[in-house]
Amino acid sequence: MAKLWGGRFQKETDRLVEDFHSSISFDQRLYKYDIKGSIAHASMLGRAGIIEPDEAGAIIRGLEEVLADIEAGRVEFSVGAEDIHMNVEQLLTERVGELGKKLHTARSRNDQVALDIRMYLKDEIDSITALLRGLQASLLDLAEKHLDTVMPGYTHLQRAQPVTYAHHLMAYCEMFRRDEERLGDCRRRTDVMPLGAGALAGTTFPLDREYVARQLGFAAVTENSLDSVSDRDFAVEFAASASLIMVHMSRLCEEIILWSSAEFAFIELDDAYSTGSSMMPQKKNPDVAELIRGKSGRVFGDLQALLTMLKGLPLAYNKDMQEDKEALFDAVDTVKKCLIIFKPMLETIQVKKDVMAQAARGGFTNATDLADYLVRRGMPFREAHEAAGKAVLYCLKKGQTLEGMSLEEYKEFSSLVEEDVYNAIDIRNCVQSRKVPGGPAPGTVAEAIARARQRLG
Ligand code: ARG
Repeated sequence: MAKLWGGRFQKETDRLVEDFHSSISFDQRLYKYDIKGSIAHASMLGRAGIIEPDEAGAIIRGLEEVLADIEAGRVEFSVGAEDIHMNVEQLLTERVGELGKKLHTARSRNDQVALDIRMYLKDEIDSITALLRGLQASLLDLAEKHLDTVMPGYTHLQRAQPVTYAHHLMAYCEMFRRDEERLGDCRRRTDVMPLGAGALAGTTFPLDREYVARQLGFAAVTENSLDSVSDRDFAVEFAASASLIMVHMSRLCEEIILWSSAEFAFIELDDAYSTGSSMMPQKKNPDVAELIRGKSGRVFGDLQALLTMLKGLPLAYNKDMQEDKEALFDAVDTVKKCLIIFKPMLETIQVKKDVMAQAARGGFTNATDLADYLVRRGMPFREAHEAAGKAVLYCLKKGQTLEGMSLEEYKEFSSLVEEDVYNAIDIRNCVQSRKVPGGPAPGTVAEAIARARQRLG
C-alpha cells in the first residue's frame, strides 16, 4: 500500500517492519480524540485562511462521517496505515477525496499524538477520580456504622492498642483522598495543548493555537515546541499516582485476606465476592482481594516502563515513545477495573464485631493505658512503662488479663493504683479516651467523617 510518507522511498517497507512498527492494534482506542483534535485543527486552518473555509467545512463533515463509521463498527483499520492518525487521514481521503490531503497542513503526528494522549488521559483521570470519590463515600458510610466496633490496632502485626473498625477504614479514606488530589495535580499538567509544535520546531503557518485549545477544552497551550512533542512526564505522573492507588488498595486487600482467615476471623467476605477451590470443598477464597493485590505489580511495571522509555531519549520525538501507550492504557484499565470491584467487595463484608472486640481485649492492648493511668497519678512515664510491663509479664505467666488482676495484685506493682484503674483499662474506655484530634474516639472519628463528607461535597 502507498505510504502517506512514501515520497523519498524507492522500496516497499519490509513486511516484518510493517507489523513491527504499526501501533494501530492498540492506539485505535484513541480514535475519538484523534478525530476531535483533527476537527479543531481543520476548523482553525479554515478560520486562519490557511485552507478555504468551505474546504475546512467539507473536511469536518468528512471527519464526522468517519467517526460515525468507526462507532458503527463499519471500519476495518489497516496495519499498513501504521497508526490511528494515518488510518483516520486515509479514511477521510477515501470519503472526501483530494481535500483530505489538506488536513495535515501545519501538523505532525508528533504533536498530534501528544494531543491525543493528553485528551484521553484527561478523560480517564476524570473517570478514575469519580471512582475514587465513590470509594471514599462507601468508606464513610461503613465507618459511620462502625464507630463503636472496637478492634486491635497493630504494629509489626502484633496487637498494639485498641482502635475501631471505623478509624481503620478512615485511614484508607485519607489515602484515597490524597490519591484524588494527586490525580488532580497530574490533570492540571496534562491539561495543556501541544498542537502547533509540529514535528519539533513549530510551523511557518500562522496557527491560532489558543483557538484550538478553547475548542478542545484545554486550559493553556504548551510553551516550547521541542518539549511539547518529546516529554511524557504527565503520563509518568499518572502512572505514579495510579501506582499509589494500587498500593493503597493492595494494603487493604492484604488486611481483608488476613482478616478473613480462620486465624483472625474478623470478617467474612460475601459469597458473591469469593470463590471456591476445584479440589477442596470447604474452601472460600478471597480471590478478588488477592487479584487486586497481585495486579498492583502490573501498574508499577507500567510506571517503570514509562520512566525507562524516556530516560535516554535525545530531544525531540523518538519512536520509542510509541511504547508509552500500552503502558498508559494498561495502568488506566487496571486501576479502573480494580476500583470498580473493590467498592462492592468492601461494602458487602460481614464484620464479626465480637471477634474483633475479643482480640482487642486479649492482647494487652490496654497496657499503654495502664502506664498512662500511673502517669496521671504522678509517676514519670518511663517508670510507668516499666511497671505496666511487669504487670503484663505477671499476667502472661498466670495466663490472665490486666482487667483480671485484683487491686491487691496491682498494689504489688505500684501503690498508686486504686479502684479506678479498672475504668482506665476498660477497652471501650481506652478507645473513648483517645480524643486527641486524629484519634480513634468515636466522637472524634464522627467529626472526621463529617469533615470528609464536607470535602467530598
Ligand atoms: N504512532 C506514533 C506514536 O504513537 C505516532 C507518532 C509517529 N511519529 C513519527 N514521526 N513516526 O508515537
